[in-house]
Amino acid sequence: MATTTKRSIKKSSEPASGQGTVRPLLTGSAIQKKIRELGQQIRADFPQEPLLLVGVLKGAVLFLADLARQIPGEVTFDFIAVSSYGKDTKSSGQVKLNKDLDSSIEGKVVIVVEDILDTGLTLQYLLRVLQQRKPKSLKVAVLLDKKERRIADVRADYTGFVIPDEFVVGYGLDYAERYRNLPDVGILTLPGGSH
Ligand code: IMP
Ligand code: MG
Repeated sequence: MATTTKRSIKKSSEPASGQGTVRPLLTGSAIQKKIRELGQQIRADFPQEPLLLVGVLKGAVLFLADLARQIPGEVTFDFIAVSSYGKDTKSSGQVKLNKDLDSSIEGKVVIVVEDILDTGLTLQYLLRVLQQRKPKSLKVAVLLDKKERRIADVRADYTGFVIPDEFVVGYGLDYAERYRNLPDVGILTLPGGSH
């Protein structure tokens, strides 16, 4: 049965399908090329060691899956979930641990794998939590870095791309859980022009 609800009435955080426009920023093949370099760089820094990749759910899932395949030798992974953005595009400035790791990281070489470094508040919180657990080494790999937006004094050891201060989606990154499946990264513009 056809619905009588007007299509134009939508909460701004939930654009109807096709309403937001995504302008290309990074192609899937440019991303893959960069990830191959990052994988080699990471293995060169730790030639013999087993590496534990800690993916930050959910945005980093695609990046971790591709990065893991570009690091030769022993690699395992685990996942952690935090929330900072909720369904909006502005950071709440607060970080909460929603899902912890399955296993201990004590004595391990740990690489936190994150989709994007924005204000840095999420990563600052995560690094504090993980450092307390006495890893042998704690490094950070991010696909994207919005340098201009930094509030917390944190930096990544491995960075894919430094990007301008725009809200981006695709390749794992979402807006209200949408667009994660896009193979490219693009700049999202919503009707009304807030982004
Ligand atoms: P931070 O705590 O401000 O550094 O924010 C990090 C988190 O905010 C990331 O893990 C993303 O989930 C989210 N985020 C920041 N910027 C963007 C963006 O442009 N698109 C999608 N998510 C973003
Ligand atoms: Mg997100």
